[in-house]
Amino acid sequence: MQQYKEIIFATSNAHKVAEVDLIFQMPSIKLRSLKDIKFTKEIVEDGHTFRENALLKVQAIAKEGYTNIIGEDAGLEVEALNGEPGIYSARYSGEPVNHARNIQKLLKNLEGATNRKARFVSTVCFMDEGIISYFEGYIHGEICMTETGKKGFGYDPIFKPNGYQYTFAEMEDQLKSSISHRYKSFTELAKYLRSKNPQ
Ligand code: IMP
Repeated sequence: MQQYKEIIFATSNAHKVAEVDLIFQMPSIKLRSLKDIKFTKEIVEDGHTFRENALLKVQAIAKEGYTNIIGEDAGLEVEALNGEPGIYSARYSGEPVNHARNIQKLLKNLEGATNRKARFVSTVCFMDEGIISYFEGYIHGEICMTETGKKGFGYDPIFKPNGYQYTFAEMEDQLKSSISHRYKSFTELAKYLRSKNPQ
C-alpha cells in the first residue's frame, strides 16, 4: 500500500486544490480541502498582514486536531495607494464581495495617478507536524486605465503583468497559472516538501 502524507488545504475552493496539486506533482502528498474534512465553521480573517491571515486559517484547522495544514492569503498591492487594497482586496468596496465594484473603486482611486505599478501577493503558511513556515510569491505589473478580458476573477481585467501586452483576464488559464503569485509561493512550498519527502 502506498504511504502518503495527508495535508489539509484550508480552502473550500476545489479549483485552488486542483491548481496546487498540479504544481506539487507529488504522488506521496494527498491534499484535502475543507469540504473533504467537512469543516464548515467560518474562519474570521482579522489579521493585519497576509501572513497573519494565512496563519489564522491554519490555526482554525489545527484546533480540529490536524498537524499538516496549508493556509493561503492573497491580494493586490498598488504602489501609488500605499499598498491598498492589500489584505482588504476581496472586500475593498464593502460587503458582500463584489469584484466589479472593487475594480471601479480602484480605478477611481487611481484617477490622475501616473504611477500605476502594482503586484499580486500570495502568502502560504504551512504547518508541518506542528512546525510553521511561510512561503511568498509575487507577480509585478501595472493597473490598466480600463478593464479588458473576461477570463479569471477579481482584479484580473485591470492587471497587466510586466512583459505581457495583455491583462490576466485575456490570458489562457494555463499561462496565468504558470506565472502567477500563487504559482510562485506554492512552488517554494513544493521545493520544501520535496526536500523533506523524497519521492
Ligand atoms: P484569496 O485570498 O485568494 O481569496 O484572494 C483575495 C482577493 O484578492 C480576491 O478576492 C481578489 O480580489 C484578489 N486576488 C487574489 N488573487 C487574485 C488573482 O489571481 N487575480 C485577481 N484577483 C486576485
